[in-house]
Amino acid sequence: MDLERSARTLTDPDAPSFHLSAPYGRINDPNGLIVVDGVAHAFYQWGPSFPDRAGIGWGHASSSDLIRWTHHGMAFEPDADYDRDGCYSGSAIAADTGADFLYTGNVKHPDGTREAHQVHVHTDDFVTFTKNVDGPVVPDAARPPGYTAHFRDPMVYACDGGRLRMCIGVQRTDETGAVLLYSAESAAGPWRFDGELAVGGLDAASAGYMWECPNIFRLTDEETGIEHDVLVICPQGATDPAINPFGVADVCGYVVGRLDGTHLRDTTGFRLLDAGFEFYAPQVFAGRDTTRDALLLSWAGMPAEDDQPSRAHDWVHTLSAPRRLTLRGGVLHQAPAVDRADFGVTIPLDSAALEADESLALPVPGDARTSWLTLRVRIADGAQARLRIGPDAAPLTVDLDADALTVDRSATRYVDGGARREVALPAPAGAVRTIDLLIDRSVVEVIVDGTVAFTARAFFAPGPVAVTLKAVGGGVTLVEGESSAFSAH
Ligand code: FRU
Repeated sequence: MDLERSARTLTDPDAPSFHLSAPYGRINDPNGLIVVDGVAHAFYQWGPSFPDRAGIGWGHASSSDLIRWTHHGMAFEPDADYDRDGCYSGSAIAADTGADFLYTGNVKHPDGTREAHQVHVHTDDFVTFTKNVDGPVVPDAARPPGYTAHFRDPMVYACDGGRLRMCIGVQRTDETGAVLLYSAESAAGPWRFDGELAVGGLDAASAGYMWECPNIFRLTDEETGIEHDVLVICPQGATDPAINPFGVADVCGYVVGRLDGTHLRDTTGFRLLDAGFEFYAPQVFAGRDTTRDALLLSWAGMPAEDDQPSRAHDWVHTLSAPRRLTLRGGVLHQAPAVDRADFGVTIPLDSAALEADESLALPVPGDARTSWLTLRVRIADGAQARLRIGPDAAPLTVDLDADALTVDRSATRYVDGGARREVALPAPAGAVRTIDLLIDRSVVEVIVDGTVAFTARAFFAPGPVAVTLKAVGGGVTLVEGESSAFSAH
């Protein structure tokens, strides 16, 4: 670990404090997420030589509360022929001792062609990580016909009867995206190719040219008590507006259904997991059985957004805060998977009835650049609740009206991934909406009623990040709320 570079990153007032970030350089996808003996291990795509793309490996951090992370440096890095251009994304599964990992060894040839090898790694102690001496468990040469070398991001889970299943994101030779399924008795293989996952209701022709970072996990619907399988995918270049409503390059969403062999049947439509400017490549923590702990970390970044102000301090991107997922009526609900008592000092927010054009400064009990607010608000018919986050002159605004959430960061220092975005909001279950705001220096996460999440990088001017609630065009009542400031220790 280069301590000088790490210090340069840490002294940046924009460096997140409770969001997991790399010590320096570039972070992208979370990898190998697993909880063992009460300790969460998070690995991540780490490019320590950024902007040079060489040497991308798996950075490693651990935490007992998912918000205070200890860095352990690089767990493993490219040092073999089969991964010489990067140890790309992958996942973990608990082993009898320690854990097994599967990742993609990436090889790029000068003529532009590439190879993708699926590689097994084992650790007994989360200190030493050993690549399987027999080489890749699914070498590029064993890639099934009909798929290009965009063949990566193995995600492993246990299925009924103790067998392991692995899903891999792929591109078909006709340049459409898909997920392949493999199975094995153990992570070291041999891995058997079971076929392509048939996803009911998705039209491949408009669902993108490649699906990255698939996740499959099982959840019981809290409304019906019925178990469902959830498929999360990151389609690139999707043209279907139901998949890519903002017409961007890459999106991330999910489909709920029921796995039957290689078919995902009785599916819901595709829904975005997060409608924000920066949210991609999420991963659910590994579980020991078919039902995963539906605890998720995501990359709070996008592939084409490396040109951020933090580059002056030798780092770029961060991960999201941890989220807990539940399934209700076929829809994923998300909540910060953070214990408020762990987070820091919390104060209750007094109820307040705001008339049109009235504003209320929401107190934060400490460092106002790192806070978590939960607000329950009633918005009168025709009115709008406006949250201003940041310095007075250049805030990020979050507007909620009856059926839309609008986030506008045009006044902040970074808008490459979009300045303003409007997202449909489903009607609240009751008269009151619940809004969670997680603010951490240069990243803001908004979750409304658990069903609409919006992650945005927000590079503010230096100084405190104030939060005000304003009633626009009618009355807004803050029914109750809580405001917490993060304390690092
Ligand atoms: C997604 C992704 C993955 C790949 C990794 C490389 O952001 O492109 O498909 O494994 O990043 O860093």
